[in-house]
Amino acid sequence: MKRIAVINGPNLNLLGSREPDKYGAETLEEINGRISAEASSLGAACEFFQSNSEGELVTAIQRAADSDGIILNAAAYSHTSIAIRDAITAVRAPVVEVHISNVHAREEFRRVSMIAPACVGVIAGFGAGSYIMALRALAETR
Ligand code: DQA
Repeated sequence: MKRIAVINGPNLNLLGSREPDKYGAETLEEINGRISAEASSLGAACEFFQSNSEGELVTAIQRAADSDGIILNAAAYSHTSIAIRDAITAVRAPVVEVHISNVHAREEFRRVSMIAPACVGVIAGFGAGSYIMALRALAETR
């Protein structure tokens, strides 16, 4: 059974009430429930982690080093964090960068991803469905 880590960054604990026009009305718990259900049907198992702190995200990536894949929504840190990029490069597990919104259709600064070059792929703009697509991509990889 494939083991997938789902890691969410700052402010994503507020999903459901945070800018629902951009991020939808589902809470993170509800989204994680959907990811779990999809994982079961794909014969995979997911572990979930969320933190508002950059260092804790680095540690979570390191802990998932030997998993079969990491689904990472690093939120605003995607645009800035060399530490998270280095963590992605350091681990064996393939990392998929995920965004709920289409970051390319928003402010200029969101078009820059510090982490994308270290990831196997990027999925953005499909709402919570972005996580499901990332899971399917990792389930089919290797
Ligand atoms: C986000 C996009 C980021 O630019 C933003 O800082 C977030 C959420 C997304 O999922 O669309 O917090 O990662």
